[in-house]
Amino acid sequence: MSTDVKNLEAEREKRTRPYDPYAQVTIDEFLADLADRREKCPMSWSPDGEFWVASTYAEISSVMRRNNRGFVSFPNIPDGTLVFGQKRQIPIELDGPIHKEYRRLLDPLFAPGQINPREEQIRAVANGLIDDFIESGRCDIIPQFAFPLPGTVFLSIMDWPLEDAPQMNAWVHAFLHGVPGGTQEETDAARAEASEKSRAYIQKMVDERRANPGDDITSMIVNYEIDGAPISDEDLSDLFVMMMMAGLDTVQSVIAQSMNYFAKHQDQWAEMFSDPELLDPAIEELLRWTSPAVPTRSVADETAQVGDLELKQGERVHCPLAAANRDPEQFPDPDAVDFHRESKPHLTFGMGTHRCVGLHLARKELRIAFEELHRRIPSFELEPGCEPHEHLALTWGVEDVRIVFEPGERLGAA
Ligand code: HEM
Repeated sequence: MSTDVKNLEAEREKRTRPYDPYAQVTIDEFLADLADRREKCPMSWSPDGEFWVASTYAEISSVMRRNNRGFVSFPNIPDGTLVFGQKRQIPIELDGPIHKEYRRLLDPLFAPGQINPREEQIRAVANGLIDDFIESGRCDIIPQFAFPLPGTVFLSIMDWPLEDAPQMNAWVHAFLHGVPGGTQEETDAARAEASEKSRAYIQKMVDERRANPGDDITSMIVNYEIDGAPISDEDLSDLFVMMMMAGLDTVQSVIAQSMNYFAKHQDQWAEMFSDPELLDPAIEELLRWTSPAVPTRSVADETAQVGDLELKQGERVHCPLAAANRDPEQFPDPDAVDFHRESKPHLTFGMGTHRCVGLHLARKELRIAFEELHRRIPSFELEPGCEPHEHLALTWGVEDVRIVFEPGERLGAA
């Protein structure tokens, strides 16, 4: 039975269950809370941020699918606060025709035909990173591999200088993690500095490509016209910052969570490579299981039905994609990592008009990352005493996965 708008206030009260997207708990603990909501109250109301929390596959997919048809994606952040000095996250927080224009620009640039020829380049980046620690027989997979890999690949795709990778990774680290162990003031100062410097850097790239356009992705974006006018410098900056963040933290998180899992499940690390046919389904299963992104949508029409609730314009619905991907109705025994699972679409890359632009690139990076790691580190375990720290926020992930393994030889690839 559905609830009409006049009863919404009563439902809000009945379904109140605080939800903190930044809670200091483990991913498993958070997933257990979402599973409990799914069972007892699939659409719960969080009074702190004033948003609904959807927790089933049916509700989350129905909201994502209706973007531009009853829902908009601005603001995409549950508490509505923008970060990193952006006006809007472009294109994630754009809707309607302007969003379509951006997709018309970006989709061909990230299509398989553009991404596939970059395979050797990505493999060289992966092997260069592995070279730096392979002889020692130990590494922290996050700062030494999972974090720099997508950053360096992003620079190469954008045709920005590869030697800028450490600098760019440091900015992204400041955005995402602030100053670990530092005060809030120190974190704020580090983020402000990273924002200022990264924007100045992006402006330099934009100016260069305006003056000397090539056939690279940056030139194509910089010289693209929307409604007969080039994209403004400010919007270009918002777009490039968004692409940097969207591409880095997500790929990093999938590698980080997966390697943390494999450290405790070496049989599956071997199984994933036991049959070439299994690798793609295995990566899809890891994508389903790790599911790092957590979008938010707002009701744009007068009302919109979600589950048994009729929401009114402006109401926000927070959609933890991991909750959809762990819904047992869709994925039986959802917490198990099962490479032989019956193939069903997961929501890790979202759904509908905002579905991830970078999904071909992400899949390519993940495949190469796992292939090269496995080729050079066929078995490993967590360093004794290492208990990886996890975080939630807007991209869930793991901060440290220190592993030990049989030392190998450098390839000198990068
Ligand atoms: C495993 C890696 C990745 C995951 C899990 C992921 C996930 C997502 C999700 C869930 C969305 C939709 C958000 C929403 O609907 O609000 C999205 C959008 C987007 N992603 Fe990814 N992403 C990944 C990698 C990448 C990469 C490598 C890039 C490359 C630059 C990228 C660029 C983007 C962009 C530009 C959007 C915005 C699309 C739009 O608003 O139309 N992503 N991604």
